[in-house]
Amino acid sequence: MSEHARKEGAQVLEMMSREHHSKRVHAAPHRGIRGAMFALKNRWSTALLLGLLACAPAAGIRAGSEPKPSKPVAAGPTATEVAAAIPAAFPHKRAVTAESPRGMVVTDAKLATDVGARVLGAGGNAADAAVATAFALAVVFPTAGNLGGGGFAVARMGGQEKASTSADLWALDFRETASELATPTMYGENAGGFAAPSRLGHRAAGVPGSVAGLVALHQKLGSMKWSELVAPSVRLAEEGFVVDEDFAKSISSVAERLAKFPASAKLFLPDGAPPKVGSTFKNPDLAAVLKRIQEFGHKGFYEGATADLLLKEMARGNAPMTAGDLRRYEAKWRAPMSFSYRGHRVVSMPPPSSGGLTLAMMAAILEPYPLPTLPWRSPREIHLMAEASRRAFFARNARLGDPDFVKNPIEELRSKAWADAQRATISETKSTPSESLGMREKASGGAGPHTTHFSVVDGKGGVVALTTTVNWWFGNAVTVEGAGFVLNNEMDDFAVIPGTANTFGLVQGEPNAIAPGKRMLSSMAPTLVFEPDGQLKLVLGGAGGPTIISAVMQVMTSVVDHNVDIAFAEAAPRFHHQGLPDLLTIEKDGLSAESRAALLSLGHQFKERDHIADAPSIAWNGRAWVGAAEPRRNGALALAPRP
Ligand code: DON
Repeated sequence: MSEHARKEGAQVLEMMSREHHSKRVHAAPHRGIRGAMFALKNRWSTALLLGLLACAPAAGIRAGSEPKPSKPVAAGPTATEVAAAIPAAFPHKRAVTAESPRGMVVTDAKLATDVGARVLGAGGNAADAAVATAFALAVVFPTAGNLGGGGFAVARMGGQEKASTSADLWALDFRETASELATPTMYGENAGGFAAPSRLGHRAAGVPGSVAGLVALHQKLGSMKWSELVAPSVRLAEEGFVVDEDFAKSISSVAERLAKFPASAKLFLPDGAPPKVGSTFKNPDLAAVLKRIQEFGHKGFYEGATADLLLKEMARGNAPMTAGDLRRYEAKWRAPMSFSYRGHRVVSMPPPSSGGLTLAMMAAILEPYPLPTLPWRSPREIHLMAEASRRAFFARNARLGDPDFVKNPIEELRSKAWADAQRATISETKSTPSESLGMREKASGGAGPHTTHFSVVDGKGGVVALTTTVNWWFGNAVTVEGAGFVLNNEMDDFAVIPGTANTFGLVQGEPNAIAPGKRMLSSMAPTLVFEPDGQLKLVLGGAGGPTIISAVMQVMTSVVDHNVDIAFAEAAPRFHHQGLPDLLTIEKDGLSAESRAALLSLGHQFKERDHIADAPSIAWNGRAWVGAAEPRRNGALALAPRP
């Protein structure tokens, strides 16, 4: 590439930025890569232009320079810009939203949303509604809702709309733990594959945390009577609910795994097949467990009849779990992970979830780039976000673990020096091979989603963002005989063999090695975003393993950087880069041909997926709460408080 060509390439990039910038004022018709191509069509062929983009030195920010943070834009994107960011072939155009100044509940399952909305309607606060919703999910959405798993919640319960102080903000960790009998080498050398013992069957289960978490949430922040919050779920389990297509499909998609375990087959595959659409699904064993929880709270699960059933099931599978593991399990309140992004305050989950810190790292790398002046979802924006993500995931995977067992280098990873050093290695004209940054794996693993996030805002300043999971759909596929709930396969979130990819392809290190009583590192990221004046702006979170972090980041930057309406921010095609594998995962039909070509020319290699993450959101639009149900999840629903 000649010096002359390099210079011209740089001018093209410069022009693309300027041209976009001027459009904000003059609404110029052609913009971004397409605009540049259009303007230049008489001078260069498209191929030459793309070649130049790949080879030109950076326009705008150069590696190692010290840019100033850009301010968010005031006006949102035009309809044309939205159409450019969400290609015609992409199946999701906008999320279905509900709007109310009185509060909002959004979940992946309509019956659970309904339970939460009724608790708000009955005068419950966000914590009350979250508790009732989580129990309802355990009944009507057993793919991910659970009693046998764990999760995280971030809450603001200040009773005031603005100016939350740290005292109003809460982060609750109810992550599963490894049994006291667990050992770092319990899965041996052969950890990979779909049927690996850390993924399928009894030995994949960690000590469940969900019930302890919901008890803790209610005790600290709830206002209604505990028994009233469990009651709707007892009813749903006892009297049953009508099977719809989503429920039947969720079972048929994992029927093969469920069929391997008699109690799962009996419950979910009654005549050798998923329950029929239109039939009533009852779960009397689960109703009995819920009644014990309703009456005895924490002890109703971790001691007595339920604990006995659980331990018996684990023994049946020759899997390690003791009465002491259950008795000692406790949910933990942690200091939230709080950071700023373009004047906004972001409050998320600290370790043992990597969610908040990884978001903080990405935000600190990205903040100086002029994302607000770039077209929403332009190739340049996607490239910069992918490069930031690659680096943040590298640190996440190699260096984080349960804070009760290892020292996480939080201050270092949140420092300006760290972010600057990362940015200095980012080129605007070329993707960075992960290997050149030191990322290596011994072997690779598969991938597969399934968790569930929901958010609740009450009309009194309370908000809870809660993500809960059994890891895969139906967890380890083992139903506890006589108890009607499945166990998790969360043990696979540990670095089962450090340096080897887990089911999400995450290649993790020693800090996340298995140890007795330790919590496995998570990517869950229940997150609140406050405007500079303190107004709560966004309530976010998601399902999808590491892609949770990308989805939360992308919804947040769409709103904060580009002022995109939440319905579009939620639907817009997502992308994900986690360093290893060294691939830019994109949603099918989510990129225009031009964007694809531009990103390819920068050296990115794509992996396509039908669907990246489920990430229901709630946004404040200045007048009301807008709940945006996840369009990728059939059955998802947002509802205002209701009688
Ligand atoms: O904690 C984690 O990061 C994973 N166990 C979450 C799994 C997940 O989100 C699967 N989802 N759809």
